[in-house]
Amino acid sequence: MADQFQYLFSPLKIGPVTVRNRIAIAPHSTLFAPRGMPSDRLAFYYAERAKGGAGLITVEACITGPGPARWPLIKAYDERSIPGLRKVADMVHEHGATCFCELINIGVWGGLGASMMPDLWTRSTAREATVAEIEEWVEQYGRSARHLVEAGMDGVEIHASHGAGPQQFNSPLYNKRTDKYGGSLEKRLTFLLESVHRIRQEIGPTLALGVRLDVDEMIPGGVTLEDGQEIARILENTGEVDYLSVDTAMEPHQQHFMTAPMYVAHGHMVFAAAAVKDVLDKIPVIAAGRIIDPLHAEKILADGQADMVAMTRAQIADPELANKARAGRLEDIRPCLGDNENCIGRLQTGAPVACTVNPAVGVERFLGLGTLQPATAKKKVLVVGGGVAGMETARVAALRGHQVALYEKAETLGGQVNLASRLPGRSEVEGIARWLEGQLDQLDVDIHLGEEVTADKVDSLKPDAVVVATGAAYFRNGLCGQTLSPIEGWEQENVATPEEILTGAKIAGQRVVIVDETGYLVGLGLSEWLADQGKEVEIVTSDPFVGSALVPNLQLPWVYARIMGKVTLTPHTRITQIADQTLTAINVHSYEERQIEDVDTVILVTGKAPDDSLFRALEGRVPELHLVGDANIAISSVFGIGDAVRNAHQLGRQI
Ligand SMILES: Cc1cc2nc3c(=O)[nH]c(=O)nc-3n(C[C@H](O)[C@H](O)[C@H](O)COP(=O)(O)O)c2cc1C
Ligand code: SF4
Repeated sequence: MADQFQYLFSPLKIGPVTVRNRIAIAPHSTLFAPRGMPSDRLAFYYAERAKGGAGLITVEACITGPGPARWPLIKAYDERSIPGLRKVADMVHEHGATCFCELINIGVWGGLGASMMPDLWTRSTAREATVAEIEEWVEQYGRSARHLVEAGMDGVEIHASHGAGPQQFNSPLYNKRTDKYGGSLEKRLTFLLESVHRIRQEIGPTLALGVRLDVDEMIPGGVTLEDGQEIARILENTGEVDYLSVDTAMEPHQQHFMTAPMYVAHGHMVFAAAAVKDVLDKIPVIAAGRIIDPLHAEKILADGQADMVAMTRAQIADPELANKARAGRLEDIRPCLGDNENCIGRLQTGAPVACTVNPAVGVERFLGLGTLQPATAKKKVLVVGGGVAGMETARVAALRGHQVALYEKAETLGGQVNLASRLPGRSEVEGIARWLEGQLDQLDVDIHLGEEVTADKVDSLKPDAVVVATGAAYFRNGLCGQTLSPIEGWEQENVATPEEILTGAKIAGQRVVIVDETGYLVGLGLSEWLADQGKEVEIVTSDPFVGSALVPNLQLPWVYARIMGKVTLTPHTRITQIADQTLTAINVHSYEERQIEDVDTVILVTGKAPDDSLFRALEGRVPELHLVGDANIAISSVFGIGDAVRNAHQLGRQI
C-alpha cells in the first residue's frame, strides 16, 4: 500500500459493521430501476465500484411510500423490489464492500408536507400532513427498512437532506406546525426521531443506521450550522444512530451547492462535517462535496475533520479510484471534471446517469472492468486528431493490442478541450485530456505532434484502419440552427470566432458583442474573461435567456453569479447584420428592429462545423475508415465531451 495513506485504507467501525476502508460512495440516484424495480444494470453499476475498492456503498434514495416522485425512485416500500436490491447487496458483498441503502420520504415533492408549503420542484402547493398521515410515514420507514433487511443490506440511511421529508420537518422554513411535530428545534425533530426509532425496531442491532443530515441549510431562516450541531448531538444521544453523513444547503434552492460543479472548491462541505465531528463523542461522521483526490481525502481524515470521505462523482468517473490510490497509482485515476453534465445533469432531464469521462457508466456489464478483449487481428491503426475522441480511440485500440499511431496538427494534445479549459473557472475540463495523454504515454502509442495529415500522407503510412478525429471549429459566418443562414457582414475583420479570441489570433476591442446561439458555456465564459479584462461585453441570444442549454439549477446559478453586473445579457434577440461597427438586432417575437452601435468586436458563438474533409478524401482509399468525435457530430452544447468519449471508446473496441 502506498505510504502516503495512513488513514484512508484503515477499517472503520460503523455501529455493528466494520467497513474495509474510509472511502464511501454516497447515495446517488441512477434511474437504473425502471418502474422503481432495481435492474441488473443497477447491480452491475454498484458492483463495479465495489470491485474498484470502495469501502462503503450506500445505494441511492429508495422511496418509502407510494406517491409521485420527481423521477422513478426505487420502491423500497414494495416487496417486489427486494430481489433486485438483494442482487445489488450480494454483488457488492462479493467484492468485499459494505452495502447500505438510503430511504427517502419525499414530503412536499409528493404533495404532502410538514406544513402547507409551495414546492419549487413541482410548482404545486403541498398540504399539511395530518398526525395520522405522519404516523403512517413512520410506519412506511419501518416496512421499507424490513425490506432492506430481507435484501441483505448492511445498513440503512435516512435521507434528511436534499429537501427530503425529514429535512422539511427539521427546517423552520418548511415546518410551521404547532403540534408535537413543530415549534422548537427538539419538536421539529420528532418526525426524524420517531422514524429512527421505528427503523431501529425493524433492523435490530446487527445493521447500521445512519442519517444523511443537512446541518446548514444556507438559506435565511433555515437550519443554521449551530442548529445542525445540536441536531447531530440529539441524534447521537438517541443511542440508535450509528453515523451521520453530513450535507449542507437546500434542494432545489441551493442544489448547485449540494452537488457542486467545478466552480466550487474541492471539499466545500467538509467544514460542516468538521463542525459536526467537533460536537460528537461516539459516532463517526462522513464528509462529502467535491472530494476527488485521495491525498485530499487522506488529509481530511488526518486533520480529524471526518472519519470517512464520500467520493461519489469521483467514483462515477473512475470506479477503480480506491484500488489505484491504494497501489500508489494516483496519476492513473481518471478525474471527475465537476462538469455535472452527464451525471446529475442528465438525471435532471429524466435520463439515466452517465459520465462525461467514463463511457462504462450504466453499461458496466459490457464495458466495465475486465471486459476489454484483445483484438483478434492486430492492425496498424492511424488516428488523425489528438482531441479527446482521437485519444480515447487510440487508448482503447492500443490496450487491445493494435499498433497505434496518432497524429495531431497542433503542438499539444487535447484539441478543443484545451481551449475550453482557458475559460474562467473551467480549468478542470482539461483533466480528461491530461489523463488520456498520460495513459497514451504508458501505452505504446506512436504520437506525432505538429504534423498535419493529408490523404497522400495516409497512403504513405499504409495503415489497416484510419480513424479521423479532426474535430470541429466554430462557424466563422454565424450559421446557426435558428436561422439556417449566415449573418450578413460576417466577413468583416472585427468579427471573430471563440478560437481566435482564446488563442490570441484576434484581440477583442473595448466594446464586444457575443452572439450566442448555443446556450452553452463558451459564450458566457468568454464574456467573463473579456469583462475581467475591462471590456464592455454584451451577450445577445435569440433564446429566452442566456445559457439556456445549461443545467438550470446546477450550472446556471454559478455561471450567472460570476458575470452578474459585469456583462449585459440580451435575450430574445437575433443579430441579422453586421455593418462595420453597427449591428442590426431584431426581437425574435415582435420583430422590432434596432441598431447596436459602436461595437468594436463581434464574437460568433453560433455552432460548430465538423471537419470531415480528410474522411471524405479517404473514402474508398483505405481498407477501413472511421469518423469520430466532433468531426462526426459537432456538439457545441452540453454532453459534447461525454458523447465524444463514449463514441470513441466504442470505436476503440470495434476496430
Ligand atoms: C447523479 C447524482 C444523483 C444523486 N442522488 C442522490 C440521492 O439519491 N441521495 C442523496 O443523498 N444524494 C444524492 N446525490 C448527492 C451525492 O450523494 C453527493 O452528496 C454529491 O454528489 C456531492 O458529493 P461528490 O462531490 O463526492 O459527488 C446525487 C448526486 C449525483 C451526482
Ligand atoms: S459527469 Fe462530470 S461531474 Fe459527473 S461524475 Fe462524470 S466527470 Fe464527474
